Amino acid sequence: MAPQLDSYFQQVDALSDAFIERLRQAVAIPSVSSEAARRPDVVRMGQFLADELTKLGAHVELRPLGKQPGTDLDLPPVVLARYGNDKNKRTILVYGHYDVQPAQKTDGWDTEPFELTIMPDGRMCGRGSTDDKGPVLGWLNAIEAHKSAGIEFPVNLLMCFEGMEEYGSEGLDDLINAEAKKFFADADAVCISDNYWLGTERPCLTYGLRGCNYYSVEVWGPGADLHSGVFGGTAQEPMTDLVRIMSSLVDTNGNILIPGIAEQVAPVTAEEEGLYDDISFTMETLHESLGSKTTIFDDKKRTLMARWRQPSLSLHGIEGAFSAPGAKTVIPAKVIGKFSIRTVPNMDIDKTNEAVYRYVEDVFKKLGSKNSMKVYAQHTGKWWVASPKHWNFSAAAKATERVWGVKPDFTREGGSIPVTLTFEQATGKNVLLLPMGSSTDGAHSINEKLDKRNYIEGIKLLGAYLHYVAEEPMN
Ligand code: BES
Ligand code: MN
Ligand code: MN
Repeated sequence: MAPQLDSYFQQVDALSDAFIERLRQAVAIPSVSSEAARRPDVVRMGQFLADELTKLGAHVELRPLGKQPGTDLDLPPVVLARYGNDKNKRTILVYGHYDVQPAQKTDGWDTEPFELTIMPDGRMCGRGSTDDKGPVLGWLNAIEAHKSAGIEFPVNLLMCFEGMEEYGSEGLDDLINAEAKKFFADADAVCISDNYWLGTERPCLTYGLRGCNYYSVEVWGPGADLHSGVFGGTAQEPMTDLVRIMSSLVDTNGNILIPGIAEQVAPVTAEEEGLYDDISFTMETLHESLGSKTTIFDDKKRTLMARWRQPSLSLHGIEGAFSAPGAKTVIPAKVIGKFSIRTVPNMDIDKTNEAVYRYVEDVFKKLGSKNSMKVYAQHTGKWWVASPKHWNFSAAAKATERVWGVKPDFTREGGSIPVTLTFEQATGKNVLLLPMGSSTDGAHSINEKLDKRNYIEGIKLLGAYLHYVAEEPMN
């Protein structure tokens, strides 16, 4: 029997201003995990969630994670919470992150990044609106709407919200493993709302993610930054070496030039070949979210395959390089190049690291430079692919149809959520990714937004999913 959801949906609509206000308060806390100076704000954001959850009647624990490796800085606490403890109900464990990417108005934002700004077309702009504060608050809002509608909450809800996801989920694996048989012991399934629709119209359920290995290459030589008029042509320059190393990693069409990577990639099966045609995804929407037409492929299938099931290597930046406007004639003494590899089945983290180290060391050796070089991984994370043939996915599909009036696509994604596989392995339960935002939200980019419609309907979706979960037969 379809669950009675009408009064819940009405209550979400009635409370929508309060829910937007809650998002405004969350966006106003600049919880940037990668900047040491912002760490107090990250902690404040965790406290905000804990306070809101406590007010809603949840049992909340703030768990310390100790020091950030290699620093004197405390990691932000994990917010663990439980709402409901009824042995006759299913228990769903949800995960999200309350940290965000850095943002400054001068990066090119049209509005202040840490002030939620609502546009006439319904875009709610602000850092973290879609990644991942809107979805995290979605769970809190679903609880509130049930309370004020006077409807019984359909499941026991366990929550795990962390503050270091954008930095590789430092410290969280250990906590998940330690709590698998404790705080998370009665979880029947896991749900993560931290990805996006493939386009702007059709919702999706996601069953795969790529992993992410993030590397640094340091090159140094001179004792201090130098005048290029005095030392140019007399000193071997670290940046010259680094740029030559970085240019040897990947080509214009995204081909990874490191031996030992392509060999690890799982072959395409006949079944998989047929999966791509039905996915609602067009090159036009890709061009729209890309903001240009500079794609490597011009067809949907190869593009989706490149994003979902092929590895990629991206160059991110060079620490220590002159990057300000103007024309400073400096020779940087030490530079650190940053790049990452998105990993896919059946790549192995250690094998991939070894291939990278061997290749970079080899390229550097061939340069014949007197400078010094060091290459190492800053963080690594495994890829994840699950089976969508599970009641967890069936419930989410029914909820999607009920809220959005269409069947969801079943998708994989190119991005990474490092702890997804950890949750699956530690709990032994099915993990579902249930996105709220859409492809044009611009996570990590300037003018990040969450459409008001996706936020409000997304809150209905998360609540409806829990009701359908309660009704699914076990399989
Ligand atoms: N929400 C994203 C993950 C994501 C992005 C999933 C796009 C699906 C599509 C998450 O906040 C994120 O940005 N993750 C990082 C992880 C990295 C730091 C290990 C990422 O993918 O870069
Ligand atoms: Mn995220
Ligand atoms: Mn992110």
